[in-house]
Amino acid sequence: MTESGKSGISQGLANYGDAGFSRFLRKAFIKAMGYSDDALDRPIVGITNTYSGYNACHRGVPELIDAIKRGVMLAGGLPIDFPVISMHEAFSNPTSMFLRNLMAMDAEEMIRAQPMDSVVLIGGCDKTVPALLMAASSVNKPAIMTVTGPMITGSHKGERLGACTDCRRFWAMHRAGEVDETEIGEIGDKLAPSAGTCMVMGTASTMALVSEAMGMMLPGGGAIPAVHSDRLRHAEATGRRAVELARNPIRPRDILNERSMANAFRVLQAIGGSTNAVVHLAALAGRLGFDFDYDLFDRMGQETPVLVDLKPSGQHYMEDLFKAGGLAAILRELGDLVDRDCTTITGQTLGEIIDSGPELFPQDVVRPISDPIYTGGGIRVLGGNLAPGGALIKQAAASLELMTHTGRAVVFTSLADMAARLDDPDLDVVADDVLVLQNAGPKGAPGMPEAGYIPIPKKLAAQGVKDMVRISDARMSGTAFGSIVLHISPEAAVGGPLALVRNGDTIRLDVPSQTIEILVDEEELARRRAQWAPPAHTEERRGYAKLYFEEVNQAEDGCDFDFLRMVPKGTPALDV
Ligand code: FES
Repeated sequence: MTESGKSGISQGLANYGDAGFSRFLRKAFIKAMGYSDDALDRPIVGITNTYSGYNACHRGVPELIDAIKRGVMLAGGLPIDFPVISMHEAFSNPTSMFLRNLMAMDAEEMIRAQPMDSVVLIGGCDKTVPALLMAASSVNKPAIMTVTGPMITGSHKGERLGACTDCRRFWAMHRAGEVDETEIGEIGDKLAPSAGTCMVMGTASTMALVSEAMGMMLPGGGAIPAVHSDRLRHAEATGRRAVELARNPIRPRDILNERSMANAFRVLQAIGGSTNAVVHLAALAGRLGFDFDYDLFDRMGQETPVLVDLKPSGQHYMEDLFKAGGLAAILRELGDLVDRDCTTITGQTLGEIIDSGPELFPQDVVRPISDPIYTGGGIRVLGGNLAPGGALIKQAAASLELMTHTGRAVVFTSLADMAARLDDPDLDVVADDVLVLQNAGPKGAPGMPEAGYIPIPKKLAAQGVKDMVRISDARMSGTAFGSIVLHISPEAAVGGPLALVRNGDTIRLDVPSQTIEILVDEEELARRRAQWAPPAHTEERRGYAKLYFEEVNQAEDGCDFDFLRMVPKGTPALDV
């Protein structure tokens, strides 16, 4: 039942100034779909159809929709799927993050505009899960999440391969001359061998597990491989549950709150999850009316060891996590570190779900809390004079010896500048330097692309250099690794201190002290600040890009549009 008291096909009529006519017209047109009156009297479950011929991560969506519909009909409901924007990481120019809010707006408005009593959200590829969660939180109609599921692994010369940690690893070897043109082509044929999402602990896997941990998904859904028959049974159960939600509503804001968000922090740290999830959870927090608590997130990181041995921090893949028990095994291992009283979409508390889940058994994917793969937590929050609005480092995927490092800045002023000069044999760079990328943040690139994984300059890679301190206002794929400081805020393109760094400046990274600093005196910084001007491209005059540049928030607020937050913040005054 909607808040206006109408349910099923009668809710939210198109406005013709005559409600009776609106109802008559709607029924006449929906009859053209072939539905009977009996079908149209049932609770309606909307299903977001995120299939796209460009999106292999969502290749399995038609089959999932069939299974969800089966579940809905078995429970006496009427399923109706409808299209929303779908996007794949590799097919979204300039970057999928530029479009995440557009997808969230699309989904929000179509869920709100069309008659449905509950909705099944089918996420998968990186930005689709957060976009759908953001949308559902804003509409606050009963909603349940499911995902397309991770791909199975490929194989090359007896070695397992997974997108996209191994994409990057082999590409780095190719750049260093260790893998030739023919072999890199062969590897490319095997990195993504099935439908589904990247099968390492990238953003898609992270957001799937975090959604389950927050209670928005039926138990087990985060890790089931895309091509496993359990994926279809889970979809069918999701459809059934959606009908129950239509009859006895549990709404997103009954589930998503500061406490379930804290469970998301806990799981994100314990799985060694993607830094991108921090941006998405910050955006979700804004939709729910509170700010992402970075202090709590960092504190939890310090007391939460990384338990899951998955690439890029470890050695296994998502199908191994599925066989090891999935999220249930992680939650059991975390024990009292999770808030067991949180409500979930099942109607049970998280604690009840944990207690009714499978027992732990010996395996080496989810490590015991007494023997984690990394003790210090996956992600640390940084501050300091280069990042007054914050920055992140995924220390579980970084080199221990670089966690405290002082080096000379080698600055790239944009992605184009980096592409043009990084491999120049004459580039003045040594292994101890700090690579600095500017203007790759929310407005700078735009869309805060996953460019933070600055490649090792070719001449250093050829000398065997595997890691360097690299800093930027960009993001990084959850599948990447290295001593990389990301999400520096405020970004360079709005005049953040990162914009003031020049070649040869001294940069100091001190992860234990949570700082990233520029060691240049304040007078000189003030001189540079007075000369700074924003990049010309941020003055876009039309279309979605205009909306984006005018409204996008900084990383700490999740790069959402300010007007989409439950309580808009207004453009923060920048004090650089
Ligand atoms: Fe879709 Fe990796 S490209 S999850």
